[in-house]
Amino acid sequence: MQSPRSASTAVVRSLHNHSKVQEQYLLEVVVAQSDVTEIDVDVLVVNLFEGVTKPDGATGAVDSALGGVISELISDGEITGSASELTLIHTPNSAYANFKPARVLVAGLGSSDSFDTDGIRRVSASVIRKLRSSGVKHAATIVHGAGIGGLETTSAAQATVEGALLGAYRFLKYRTTDKKRKADVGKLTIVEVDSSKVADISSGIERGVAYSHAEILARDLVNEPANKLAPADLAATAEKVAKENDLDYTVLEEADVAKLGMGAYIGVSQGGPRPLKFIHMSYEGDAGDPQNNLWLIGKGITFDSGGISIKPGAGMGKMKGDMGGGASVIAAIQAISQLKPKLNVHVVCAATDNMPGGSAQRPGDVVTAMNGMTIEIDNTDAEGRLTLADAIGYAKSRGAERIVDVATLTGAARIALGDGVSPVFGNDDELVNSVLDTSTTVGESMWRLPLDSVTKRQNASKIADLKNTGGRGGGSTTAAHFIADFAGDTPWVHIDVAATSMLDSTRGWMPAGATGVPTRSLIELAMNLGG
Ligand code: BES
Ligand code: MN
Ligand code: ZN
Repeated sequence: MQSPRSASTAVVRSLHNHSKVQEQYLLEVVVAQSDVTEIDVDVLVVNLFEGVTKPDGATGAVDSALGGVISELISDGEITGSASELTLIHTPNSAYANFKPARVLVAGLGSSDSFDTDGIRRVSASVIRKLRSSGVKHAATIVHGAGIGGLETTSAAQATVEGALLGAYRFLKYRTTDKKRKADVGKLTIVEVDSSKVADISSGIERGVAYSHAEILARDLVNEPANKLAPADLAATAEKVAKENDLDYTVLEEADVAKLGMGAYIGVSQGGPRPLKFIHMSYEGDAGDPQNNLWLIGKGITFDSGGISIKPGAGMGKMKGDMGGGASVIAAIQAISQLKPKLNVHVVCAATDNMPGGSAQRPGDVVTAMNGMTIEIDNTDAEGRLTLADAIGYAKSRGAERIVDVATLTGAARIALGDGVSPVFGNDDELVNSVLDTSTTVGESMWRLPLDSVTKRQNASKIADLKNTGGRGGGSTTAAHFIADFAGDTPWVHIDVAATSMLDSTRGWMPAGATGVPTRSLIELAMNLGG
């Protein structure tokens, strides 16, 4: 029998070595064309749908090679195939001479009816954590969901890789004393016996790596404490991403944005000492048609104290993550530049702190945005929409044809939809639907809420064109209405990730802390629009 060979290697490398971002964890992912019984690894991962009594495919091949031990565990009721069930079987060479893997891990996939790529990500995430806690260095896995799951090979492989990379993620750079911590799995081989599928798996790996590395970058930026990540540090990261991926990059300083008339943005930044940075990156994927563009705008508040309308103390530390929208757009353009859709993509992040210093803006102040509209500052804690107003003004002045903004904008998002679904608003059904479609494909739930005319009136001011808050009812909607007034008639979508960009506890491929949401949707959107 021919020995397993690496038909193709798509190796995960430490791409980013950001000064302000932790060393990337190195999980090498490769594909090998081999019989599962022949692969020399610490653990071979196979799977089982609920209700299957006689496994076939790769799991069946393992079962036969092991003299029916898996079937027996099924009939004994030890293995049921329920979602997240993990069963480790020791298969030493002394007992199984014709079976190379030292152990087999059978992962339950749950019901095959409802199985999708998000199910793959979830199972792959719990598998990689189980492997790490068992001290495994090198594991092999079959592609989950591609057999009787019926999912397409490339996307099933992509989701398998994403689950592993995202599920293994930890933010450890400031943990210096826990010596008993388990080391990460070093290598994951995706094993496939059918040589005609190897190329598809290979491209799935490549996409999974690009998507996941971007999400990991977004997570690292969100998890980074605010004392380590000033607007200048966010800009430095963006510049590094730009340099490494051959993107255009500009940063505007306070004097530059003042000249452009960004009074709303400057008003937010004036309460603290750390200088603002207005970041603009661009990827040229359709040079012949500059109008074929997508502008991704991310809220970039590097710390939101609330300003003079200061927030209560409890939980304020989470406001280090108030640049989650900015992190996701900077991360997305990294993957976009690697995957090269035929579309021009611009990223904008108006980065600043929101602080209550002596020169901070006050409730009652009036500021003038770049587009000439005047805004009464009703509450200095509604700062995100102010920075977005000027970021959108800039995008429109530079010829934006489609705008998607991402922002940790309102606590009301959690009240409306909880922390599993991000509210989406927009003025253009086609663009809204493209965003919703991609979010479904990639497993980042979103739901459209209406921009109704009744709620819009809540933003009316007596002394300016608008005020920056709209009272108690429909807090996410009034914030979206505010931004809509600056988007005007340019097709625009707003994604409020206040509840979804950070989690209190681990959920599937999302660890506690930063989730990276909605980076994957943004990448997928650019791929679809430029496909
Ligand atoms: N960054 C916050 C929103 C937020 C809250 C994000 C919780 C993540 C978790 C935003 O700037 C804010 O303070 N919004 C206010 C708006 C209000 C003053 C109209 C809010 O939601 O309370
Ligand atoms: Mn705020
Ligand atoms: Zn904020």
